[in-house]
Amino acid sequence: MVSACRRFVLVFMMEREKELPTVRGYDRIAKVYRFLEWTLFRGALQRARVSLLSEVPNCRKMLLLGDGDGRFLKQFVIAQPRCSVVSVDLSVEMLKLQANEVRKVGDQFCVDWVCRDVRELDFPEACFDGVSTVFFLDCFTPDEISVLLPQIMRWIRPGGVIHFVEFQLPAKGWRRFRGVFYLGLMHLFFRWQTGLQNRQVQNFDEVFRGLPVTLIADRSSNYGLIRSSLYRLK
Ligand SMILES: C[S@@+](CC[C@H](N)C(=O)[O-])C[C@H]1O[C@@H](n2cnc3c(N)ncnc32)[C@H](O)[C@@H]1O
Repeated sequence: MVSACRRFVLVFMMEREKELPTVRGYDRIAKVYRFLEWTLFRGALQRARVSLLSEVPNCRKMLLLGDGDGRFLKQFVIAQPRCSVVSVDLSVEMLKLQANEVRKVGDQFCVDWVCRDVRELDFPEACFDGVSTVFFLDCFTPDEISVLLPQIMRWIRPGGVIHFVEFQLPAKGWRRFRGVFYLGLMHLFFRWQTGLQNRQVQNFDEVFRGLPVTLIADRSSNYGLIRSSLYRLK
């Protein structure tokens, strides 16, 4: 774990499975990730990342999963400068970009970076006030989600929040057609670059409906292709 309270030294104590195609893939695309996103979506994904940020209640300790190059993290520390953040990502190159993003806005923030596959982690029960997963859960198959999501929820205290941003397939018409095209293209790209196993975006509405959470804010954008939601744990 790496702490950045008033300093930005990156030390990775975790063993990294360099040979894994997923790790190598995300390391490889880290620096071009923002550009690739811009070519397809311009600013739409960033708007979705932060669209519910002001509605996230003040947290003392927040968990960020797979935040990639740190654009959400940067806005989060600006919005909640007193919050202590743990940011987990399996790509060391992504974590370096996160550290750079945070450094741009100050050195007073408290961020611990953990370079690890989230599935290998085990935090104490109820040790966070909230978790944020932004374009992250789509990295997992439905079977993996059915194990991972309950595990993540155990790390959040009752009454804590889940900030969730993800692609979704619009229900019908040209929006659905457009969605099939964009999501197909992205899955193909990530399968090629990172060995992504998941083949299609899940219906997370249904997934969350089966969990002990209450929806407190919800926004759909980009012609129904993106969904930003805030849940409270019961
Ligand atoms: C599709 S990118 C999304 C990045 C960022 N959240 C965004 O909004 O663009 C997925 C991110 O999750 C990380 N990741 C993928 N699988 C992971 C895993 N099993 N454990 C931890 N991080 C993972 C990748 O390294 C990458 O940074």
